[in-house]
Amino acid sequence: MTVDDGNSTPPVAQGTATRDLERYAALFAARTGSMKSSAMRDLMAITERPEVISLAGGLPDVSHLPPAMLDAITTSVSTHAVRALQYGPTEGMAKVHEAIQVVMAEEGTLVDSGELLVTTGGQQAIDLVCKTLVDPGDIVLAEGPTYPGAVPTFQAYQADVRQLQMDDDGLDIDLLEQTLDELAAEGKRPKFLYTIPTFQNPAGVTMSLERRKRLVKLAAERELLVVEDSPYSLLRFEGESLPTLRTLDGGNFVIYLGTFSKILAAGLRIGWVAAPRAIRQKMNIGKAGSDLCSSSISQVVVEACIADLDLWRTYLDELRERYQGRRDAMLDSLEHAMPEGSRWTRPRGGLFLWVTLPEQIDTTNLLARALRANVAFVPGRGAYTDGRGGDSMRLNYSGVDEAEIREGVRRIGAVVTEQLELYGEMVGEPLVRQERRRGPRETPPLDAGTPGSLVQFPQRRVNR
Ligand SMILES: Cc1ncc(COP(=O)(O)O)c(C=O)c1O
Repeated sequence: MTVDDGNSTPPVAQGTATRDLERYAALFAARTGSMKSSAMRDLMAITERPEVISLAGGLPDVSHLPPAMLDAITTSVSTHAVRALQYGPTEGMAKVHEAIQVVMAEEGTLVDSGELLVTTGGQQAIDLVCKTLVDPGDIVLAEGPTYPGAVPTFQAYQADVRQLQMDDDGLDIDLLEQTLDELAAEGKRPKFLYTIPTFQNPAGVTMSLERRKRLVKLAAERELLVVEDSPYSLLRFEGESLPTLRTLDGGNFVIYLGTFSKILAAGLRIGWVAAPRAIRQKMNIGKAGSDLCSSSISQVVVEACIADLDLWRTYLDELRERYQGRRDAMLDSLEHAMPEGSRWTRPRGGLFLWVTLPEQIDTTNLLARALRANVAFVPGRGAYTDGRGGDSMRLNYSGVDEAEIREGVRRIGAVVTEQLELYGEMVGEPLVRQERRRGPRETPPLDAGTPGSLVQFPQRRVNR
């Protein structure tokens, strides 16, 4: 297997897979031609190796659930065994709707139960949005970079994804307006805008209040549906919390997606949608066709965990504190490890930051070298549908402890520096100065880098 091509199938299995592919090729639906695996899922198997420090996944730290919460989890399943082991309503259990209403109220957003649909994680919510709204060739607008897990979903539904630049204040609304004008001039109307306004995955930036207000106003004027994906807004370490787009819009043009993955436990696989009723109804039918209902056991657990509100709030406080420490460790080690010409975002919450490297580096290729040094990241191209992002990477700081973050960033810095030195030797011009640049970098637009690779790595096998 080579990791360079993003294909994680071992060589023998690959041969068999190719033969099987030929045998069944005529049967596959046309959409499978545009189906691609996600950059982060491809990395899961490799990063499970204990010697690899993974800054790649979006794994929340679930190792510190309070004992009282663990007790509530086990007791709830035995107390409500019949309900936990039976099918439930497609839209989710009434008690879980109540729990979601409580959670959304924590960020100041009020919704009716009739707008809610419980989903199998936020990921299914994205899938159901596409299943309900996207025909092949439909235009979907998204931030550039966007959530790497949404990219394959958009592709599977054969959406024509147009990604719009961000800066430190999130999506560029002028650019959005201009894009809408251009599309309207061509007689085209996007099906929706997909945005992660708070502690964006992968960039870590947050849309300013002024831009939120402008976006909601524009959405109402142009009748643009906005899909607000919000897994991270309760994980703020610094600054004032901002109103959700759903709150500002009042539920007309915003479809809100939430999840318990990052604020309780990802293994539960429980998320939700709060959508205008007509859309929610269609999504409900779409969900019934996918899985009838989300796990009843998990829903009973969610209900029990949120029932003790103080306990859950204390747990969230602890998560925020731990992640803030890890974010600080990552920022500090980036300052020390990364060569001149590198820059990165400074998130005020959430799980990720986005690093942009000197243009000579191609992070898809760099990953092979990094894995040999037992460290992993998500290459930036996974966050784009159009090949951009080659000079960037997403780093996660929630999944490993501070010591591992420091060591992981040191290893990444070393491979980046080594490659720059190599390139400098090739072109006869040193690219790494001994005196590395320190201090916060200015943040130009996040996709300002040049796509394409100048530094090529030999294709190597990864030893498992
Ligand atoms: C923006 C975004 N949406 C959706 C998801 C999917 O989350 P879930 O575990 O709830 O499926 C993630 C996970 O990292 C995410 O970052």
